[in-house]
Amino acid sequence: MNCVESMFHQLPQTADRLTDAATWEQGARHWPSGEQQTLTCCRVIDETHDVKTFEFRTEDGLPVRFEPGQFMTVSADVHGHRLERCYTISSPPTRPYLVSMTVKRVPGGGMSNWLHESMQPGKQLRAYGPSGTFTATVSATPKVLYLSAGSGVTPLMSMTRAGIDLGLDRDIVFVHSARTPADIVFRKELQRLRELSPRLRTYFVCEDIGNEQDWAGPTGRLSLPLLRDWAPDYREREVFTCGPAGYMSAVRTMLAEGGHDPARYHQESFDFSAGVAVEPAQPEHASGQKSFKVTLSRSSKSFSMTDSDTVLSAARRAGVAIPSSCSQGICGTCKTRVLEGTVDMKHQGGIRDREIERGLRLLCCSRPTSDLVLDL
Ligand SMILES: Cc1cc2nc3c(=O)[nH]c(=O)nc-3n(C[C@H](O)[C@H](O)[C@H](O)COP(=O)(O)OP(=O)(O)OC[C@H]3O[C@@H](n4cnc5c(N)ncnc54)[C@H](O)[C@@H]3O)c2cc1C
Ligand code: FES
Repeated sequence: MNCVESMFHQLPQTADRLTDAATWEQGARHWPSGEQQTLTCCRVIDETHDVKTFEFRTEDGLPVRFEPGQFMTVSADVHGHRLERCYTISSPPTRPYLVSMTVKRVPGGGMSNWLHESMQPGKQLRAYGPSGTFTATVSATPKVLYLSAGSGVTPLMSMTRAGIDLGLDRDIVFVHSARTPADIVFRKELQRLRELSPRLRTYFVCEDIGNEQDWAGPTGRLSLPLLRDWAPDYREREVFTCGPAGYMSAVRTMLAEGGHDPARYHQESFDFSAGVAVEPAQPEHASGQKSFKVTLSRSSKSFSMTDSDTVLSAARRAGVAIPSSCSQGICGTCKTRVLEGTVDMKHQGGIRDREIERGLRLLCCSRPTSDLVLDL
């Protein structure tokens, strides 16, 4: 079911409004998550002092189909090194001719600084197709609570823009936390969208007022009393959260204290340290470890590894390049078909059940339990 169909499914009262959109979306191109294409930058927008939005058009100029909240994995040569990183598509699927990503500079970070310094209209970038399951279309509830901090605003912004473009009039409470008022990404646009959609309510909380002496909003961190003020019915809402690991952990604790049902809580982390730590390679043949042979069917290469290591890191050490980004089972970039053998995979949403049934596995979070033959 595609994005517009899912919304159609959830909110049948909007059927008339959606008929056109559903028909029109049939022309949008399915861009598989494992397929790369070249994107051409057509606009760069300064959002804050350290956040920029980059708008791209696709190679063939066709509209692209994706779910609001999904991300792309971009790939570029940065100072002689090939880097791959995931970025949420911050634009909504209702504007499918351009895909945007909104990137915050990370001090010392390779890709984010390269994009800020080098990406300009006319420049190109390779990207894998949209991926990810963090999307508001997973639930049929008409009442949602979006909680974001920093660049974690991007998936929630795509969901909000899509809902408003489709005229869904969803009941959305959107609470964004920022360091200072000057760091609030999409501040003006959220205020404008609130005027367009009376059932969208937006609130900002800043740790510090920074240079904005007349800041009238609250300072400090998001708390249960603030949430109760802004969304007294928060327990009835499906919650979608995105931000740094510390923020999301504090939000989960706050919601648990407030009696929110964890089954109605969805989150996405941009912060790899929040996920399962990638274990360093163990010395080969340490006691109790089993050794296996991994064969790549297309290149006829092979290497040995132990079950203490992930297939991805063992392949890297053996000099085999496998596309990857998050190394945490989130993004799906390393999805590969296992033709023979079995693995123990501990993913974090980067692969769907039906893909697992078709023999696909995420190599970054899979350890062998037998010899393997991979479709590589
Ligand atoms: C699903 C998903 C969606 C995302 N969406 C967005 C988005 O919409 N917007 C956004 O801004 N970001 C997003 N991210 C985060 C993004 O993918 C990158 O992680 C982020 O931009 C940092 O990448 P970088 O290459 O600039 O930093 P990296 O080079 O990966 O560095 C990250 C940090 O590690 C440090 N570091 C790097 N190398 C070393 C080293 N050898 N030793 C010690 N420290 C080191 C750097 O100094 C920096 O602090 C998303 C991530 C995921 C998983
Ligand atoms: S590299 Fe992201 S899921 Fe494997």
